[in-house]
Amino acid sequence: MKKITRNAQGFFNISFILNSKDFSVDVSPKETLLDLIRMLGYKGTKRGCDSGDCGSCAIIMNSVTVVSCVLPALYADGKEIITIEGLGDVSNPHPIQSAFVEAGAVQCGFCIPGMIMTTKFLLDRIENPDEKTIKHYLDGNLCRCTGYIKQVNAVKLASSKLKNIKNRKWR
Ligand code: FES
Ligand code: FES
Repeated sequence: MKKITRNAQGFFNISFILNSKDFSVDVSPKETLLDLIRMLGYKGTKRGCDSGDCGSCAIIMNSVTVVSCVLPALYADGKEIITIEGLGDVSNPHPIQSAFVEAGAVQCGFCIPGMIMTTKFLLDRIENPDEKTIKHYLDGNLCRCTGYIKQVNAVKLASSKLKNIKNRKWR
């Protein structure tokens, strides 16, 4: 593992892959991973509670969902990170993103990037989760607007969409 050292200004140089792009940046020990991601322009990752409780800032780091507001940016060193922007966009949405829209699971949308990243983590592991499993995985993603039912339906729809894609070209 590469040893990272502090420069004269008190910053550490770290390197990582974010949404398939290589980055090398200086970060302060106080900076969070959420600060870093948003500073780099990936503002789809939302700041809700800023204390690790709401899931709005969920991203995938080395294939695992993490809440970025409570992790030091230094943790990104050597990692591969995917944010909502790394899945798809309006012109080329990921099937999970399409499923959330088609199921009517999006109201204000603030919680949705985190929900989608958690759903990606779930469906990468379990192709066809039952309702209890879906609720268990989404447990850490809070939503102020919905009753969660449509979001559970969205995960089921996403699961069936992904199963129907024979050659998974999606991340
Ligand atoms: S903003 Fe990170 S968990 Fe709420
Ligand atoms: S859709 Fe508004 S917070 Fe979830």
